Amino acid sequence: MSIYSFSFSPTGTSAKILRGIIEGISDVLNTAVIHGDLTFRAVEDIVLTSGDIVIVAAPVYGGQIAPIAKQRLKEINGNNAKCIVVAVYGNRAFENAVVDFASFMSDCGFLVCGAAAFVGEHSYSTADTPIAAGRPDSQDMADARTFGEAIALKIRTDQLHEVSASSLTDEPSPAESIVNFRNFVAGYRQQQSETPVAYLPQVDTSLCDDCGSCYDACPTEAITPDFRDADPSRCIKCCACVKICPQGARRFHSPFAKTLSENFNFRKSPRWIL
Ligand SMILES: Cc1cc2nc3c(=O)[nH]c(=O)nc-3n(C[C@H](O)[C@H](O)[C@H](O)COP(=O)(O)O)c2cc1C
Repeated sequence: MSIYSFSFSPTGTSAKILRGIIEGISDVLNTAVIHGDLTFRAVEDIVLTSGDIVIVAAPVYGGQIAPIAKQRLKEINGNNAKCIVVAVYGNRAFENAVVDFASFMSDCGFLVCGAAAFVGEHSYSTADTPIAAGRPDSQDMADARTFGEAIALKIRTDQLHEVSASSLTDEPSPAESIVNFRNFVAGYRQQQSETPVAYLPQVDTSLCDDCGSCYDACPTEAITPDFRDADPSRCIKCCACVKICPQGARRFHSPFAKTLSENFNFRKSPRWIL
């Protein structure tokens, strides 16, 4: 039996949670975990057998698992290996993402034997509009480790069996927050249908020192070689370029940031099923 882990993680929170889970597994089992980073490339050259276990983590985008994470994984053949899906979201809601992730992995030939939703700092979080800022924090990391230990115990006792991902449901938000957010989204859609605005990360040229970190951090090669623009046909608004910029020169003025910050500022906790 081999254990593999894969993450797609432009701003690093999914990868960090996954590391905590792997640490928990390693605490219990004396087995090396083979890791693949899918942020910049698709999965390749991996032959799985039914005894193997794969743990895979990716962010939630719009209540689904990030479509590009699925693109990165689409060539994997599960061959009846067991897998655990981990969706990382920005403290609003994971909605259909866990089910989406599980059904995608199942279509790739895996038996989905565990599912989790953890919170990471929202990609749109800024100093003025914090959304789950600083997460995963020490409590999240301790929880990730605990989840990893629980996985390891199930592996050791041969009790890792298929689960129904739909039984993992969102931690409820206050009704008022949900209504406020829905109203905002409806207004945003109306405005976009009347006068569409293309939101893209922008660069403050007075701060940019051309270090190229943004270019290197972009998972879709959307940043132009002069580091000044982002190609709208490639940009997935993951904010990797914003978060990596050492000069704070790159910003993404998401229209969603303020309402997310105002309405989802209470702490949500990780959830999982095994
Ligand atoms: C385009 C986009 C859509 C997002 N949609 C959601 C969402 O529906 N619910 C939520 O709670 N967080 C949402 N987020 C926040 C991310 O899920 C969260 O920041 C995650 O921790 C990012 O993972 P990463 O650090 O691995 O890139 C979204 C982020 C982006 C960029």
